[in-house]
Amino acid sequence: MGTLVIVESHFGNTWTIGEAVASAFPDATLLRIDNAPKRIDPSVNLLILGAPTHAFTLSSADSRASALERKTAGAQAARSGGFRASATGLREWIAEASIPSTTKVLTFDTCVAGAGPLFGRAAKKAIKSLAASGVNARYGATFWVTGADQLRSEETERAAAWARGLKAEE
Ligand SMILES: Cc1cc2nc3c(=O)[nH]c(=O)nc-3n(C[C@H](O)[C@H](O)[C@H](O)COP(=O)(O)O)c2cc1C
Repeated sequence: MGTLVIVESHFGNTWTIGEAVASAFPDATLLRIDNAPKRIDPSVNLLILGAPTHAFTLSSADSRASALERKTAGAQAARSGGFRASATGLREWIAEASIPSTTKVLTFDTCVAGAGPLFGRAAKKAIKSLAASGVNARYGATFWVTGADQLRSEETERAAAWARGLKAEE
């Protein structure tokens, strides 16, 4: 299978980054977290996990419920555009996942640009959770959204460039 990209997203921003990342790999499969298998096949040599930052960490059932109530421009645009918010989160997926030791694992996240990410971000919490399950993962990158939950315009290209760099490392 090669490269598998699994994404949690509530307003579409992390999903857009996931699409840009997957597009750099001819063999990539991009899956929503709700549809992702818990058991990763040994044929996956690169697993890229993406999630939005909620309350300086990975989402929880409570923060996902808050996301459904969010009134920002990005949240409203996602709802009116029919974007299907993730029903579960990367935190829950990691707790049940089985990942072969031969699979290289990278994490990325989205955050609101500013000081907040200094206090914590989803991709770093994901690494700690994976480590607690015995999985050695590497922090990949953070991509920025505005305070209105809209992806900053340069981030899609930055994500594609990051992924092309990963591809070149393979
Ligand atoms: C409940 C909630 C809590 C959030 N907390 C943070 C936070 O602590 N730090 C931050 O940078 N962004 C925070 N955000 C903004 C999200 O990071 C932003 O909505 C996300 O990157 C959008 O990605 P998505 O469209 O893929 O869900 C929060 C958003 C929600 C809905």
